[in-house]
Amino acid sequence: MAKLTVKDLEVRGQRVFVRVDFNVPMEEKDGQMVVTDATRIKETLPTLCLLIKGGAKVILASHLGRPKGKPEPSMSLRPVAAKLVEMLGCGVDFVADCVGDQVEKAVAGMQAGQVVLLENVRFHSEEEANDPAFAEAMAKVADVYVNDAFGSAHRAHASTEGVARVVAKRGGKCAAGLLMERELKFLGDELENPARPFVVILGGAKVSEKILVIDCLLEKADTILIGGAMAYTFRLAQGYQTGQSLVEADKGEVAKAALAKAKMKNVPFLLPADDVVAVPVKTDKLDKKGKPVIDWQNPRVNSDMNCPDDAAGLDIGPATIKAYSEAVAKARTILWNGPMGLFENKQFAAGTNAIARAVAEATQKGAKSIIGGGDSVKALNKAGLGDKVTFMSTGGGASLEFLEGKVLPGVAALSDKGCCCCS
Ligand code: 3PG
Ligand code: MG
Repeated sequence: MAKLTVKDLEVRGQRVFVRVDFNVPMEEKDGQMVVTDATRIKETLPTLCLLIKGGAKVILASHLGRPKGKPEPSMSLRPVAAKLVEMLGCGVDFVADCVGDQVEKAVAGMQAGQVVLLENVRFHSEEEANDPAFAEAMAKVADVYVNDAFGSAHRAHASTEGVARVVAKRGGKCAAGLLMERELKFLGDELENPARPFVVILGGAKVSEKILVIDCLLEKADTILIGGAMAYTFRLAQGYQTGQSLVEADKGEVAKAALAKAKMKNVPFLLPADDVVAVPVKTDKLDKKGKPVIDWQNPRVNSDMNCPDDAAGLDIGPATIKAYSEAVAKARTILWNGPMGLFENKQFAAGTNAIARAVAEATQKGAKSIIGGGDSVKALNKAGLGDKVTFMSTGGGASLEFLEGKVLPGVAALSDKGCCCCS
């Protein structure tokens, strides 16, 4: 059943508790944390503006990072409040906790149309435990609940699920925000009966992360194109040598089952016919995450389905780019999730960039293109093509789980449109 949305609400003078996903990338600059990609904030502005104009008292809650249930200064949402002021063009009060006296006091002093941002909900371990008492405590300042945090909707946490339950139990309304509504429309309704041909491009490192999506999309897609390191798990399952490529050796049976299902369903399931390989050489440098930096030597196109023993496959090759681009050009609906190679490294970005261009060109000719979050969004933005597709999801894990056909707890908790308490 369709969910109630923020457009269905009468919010004037109401305290509207809005769960947003302001889990945005940050970096330290001159001793201060600053937001380096504000896409998730920008995408919630339509909901926030609607509520502000409607005269709501807007109380924003989010998590940031994984602080493990205790305050962690580098994961404070305070810098996000500063960014939000800049982007909204109006004042936003920051409250240094998400429950308790200071929150209640701040909200009691709010006027219609004002906005407060609460501190990171994950500074309390009860958030991820979806503790009922903690949800009650947060819900103290909520007459109405709005969830615009699609990126967190796969989590059954207190602020994504528990607070909605408390508000609904009291007879309050729980609605989807405009971003949530758009995400459900594009990743859900639009892919239910897609204009055909429906071409799906899946990449990324791991078959294990995508296998349920593959299984589900084999029911709907006309063609599936596979890239990224996960292609090597399929190659391994077909008996080819994968050299030093990233493979999930224990996922051979899973890969074989997907290939068999594609055959049975008569869905062309394309694996790269050529690739770019290079020899990994460890250096003593460490990256930002403390992992040894690898120097990739002798990068070259490899047209053999076997990978040389000393090399790893890092991108799709020119013949694959051509074949995949041609399939994309024929599509009327495109779903893309996951890069075609190690695109963060310029030497191995050609495949991902070519697919980004093919998707943008097909969109310009009338195809609907939907980008399922995470690294493919990063890659499109890096290629300067972010505004040339129909829709880019703000969810990573959430969009995958949704595409697997799972019911997301954050969505399930919202009021149904037309139910007796909401009509
Ligand atoms: C995300 O970026 O994946 C969402 O904000 C959810 O965060 P989480 O994976 O830490 O739950
Ligand atoms: Mg995640």
